[in-house]
Amino acid sequence: MRILVTGGCGFIGSNFIRHVLSQHPRDRVVNLDLLTYAGNPDNLADVEADFGGRYRLVRGDICDPSLVEPLVGESEAVVHFAAESHVDRSIEDASAFVRTNVVGTQVLLEAARRTWGGDDSRRFLHVSTDEVYGALELDDPRCFREDWPLEPHSPYSASKAGGDHLARAYHHTHGLPVIVSRSCNNYGPYQFPEKLIPLMILNAAQGRELPVYGDGRYVRDWIYVEDNCRAHDLLLRRGEPGQVYNVGAGAQRANLEVVQGIVELVAARTGREAAELAGLIRHVGDRPGHDRRYALDTAKIRALGFAPRVDFERGLALTVDWYLDHPRWCRRVTSGAYRDYYRRMYEGR
Ligand code: NAD
Ligand code: TYD
Repeated sequence: MRILVTGGCGFIGSNFIRHVLSQHPRDRVVNLDLLTYAGNPDNLADVEADFGGRYRLVRGDICDPSLVEPLVGESEAVVHFAAESHVDRSIEDASAFVRTNVVGTQVLLEAARRTWGGDDSRRFLHVSTDEVYGALELDDPRCFREDWPLEPHSPYSASKAGGDHLARAYHHTHGLPVIVSRSCNNYGPYQFPEKLIPLMILNAAQGRELPVYGDGRYVRDWIYVEDNCRAHDLLLRRGEPGQVYNVGAGAQRANLEVVQGIVELVAARTGREAAELAGLIRHVGDRPGHDRRYALDTAKIRALGFAPRVDFERGLALTVDWYLDHPRWCRRVTSGAYRDYYRRMYEGR
């Protein structure tokens, strides 16, 4: 398969490209990435070396129709990861979110409509998120199913819902072979340390404060990134056009529990006292509009044959090991602009 991956220098996209090229020896991947602050070609240095002949990076913007159209036209499939992905940044300024997540998605869909000429062997896998469903209360026994109404709360999730609606509208109106995934929170290697898990690992390893928003009793449903990549690979090959699939591993955890788990793992790896690292936990000002809980019903993708392989405790240990074993990667992504971001977001919070 000739696959166009968008946003392949980001966290999930880079893991997905590595997965596809290693699992499918005849597939070829073009990676279209703007290399924003979150896009890092270092994430794919090994892929360039191991699969260079089947992999190509194009630096560019998904909002640029003249760049996008030929790339989509020559591809049998598009896997669309590119996005502005961080809720806190969307609260600071939502404009890049609307541009990339809504306009960029429409540009890609339109390119597929124009160039694929009704060929329904092609596939457009649109990567949405569970955050489009809104939030659940802690005592609500329900989980989000794919037919749950979309009630996004943050500017990030609202922009993702915009892209999600457009993807389904292009299927409904133009018959474009679109599949939509809505996955829960991912964690694992190569995640930019603005997100909870890598931020806490790096701070704990450096003996810095561990800033927990509000009461810390916010629940996220977690999936190890390699499981998510296997799920997306399956959806690409076996998903039904026009359908939406939740992707999750059934691991709901409160943020405080996650941070405590990280503290114990980092303490064990570095020979420090867990109690000393736990003393770094600090409750800081809450995120405005903070969604209390996400939880996914994943029966539909399981019926397609998906089963996660990495449980949360093992995945968290693997993730802590990866960050501690890659100090150069960590140093590079936490220099310069990251320090300014961190100061802006956390100082005096
Ligand atoms: P990320 O922020 O790590 O990476 C995003 C990538 O998109 C970067 O490489 C960036 O350079 C690129 N990009 C941004 N704007 C672009 C543009 N205009 N043109 C081309 N490239 C552009 O994101 P991630 O965590 O890997 O998430 C990937 C996708 O999965 C996103 O669509 C996100 O909404 C979705 N998702 C993520 C999670 C999660 O927990 N990380 C959960 C559910 C869904
Ligand atoms: P995050 O990783 O930003 O993902 P999302 O908001 O998309 O779910 O945050 C996960 C949870 O962790 C969320 O409830 C906010 C919380 N959080 C903190 O408590 N402290 C932090 O420094 C960060 C980044 C997140």
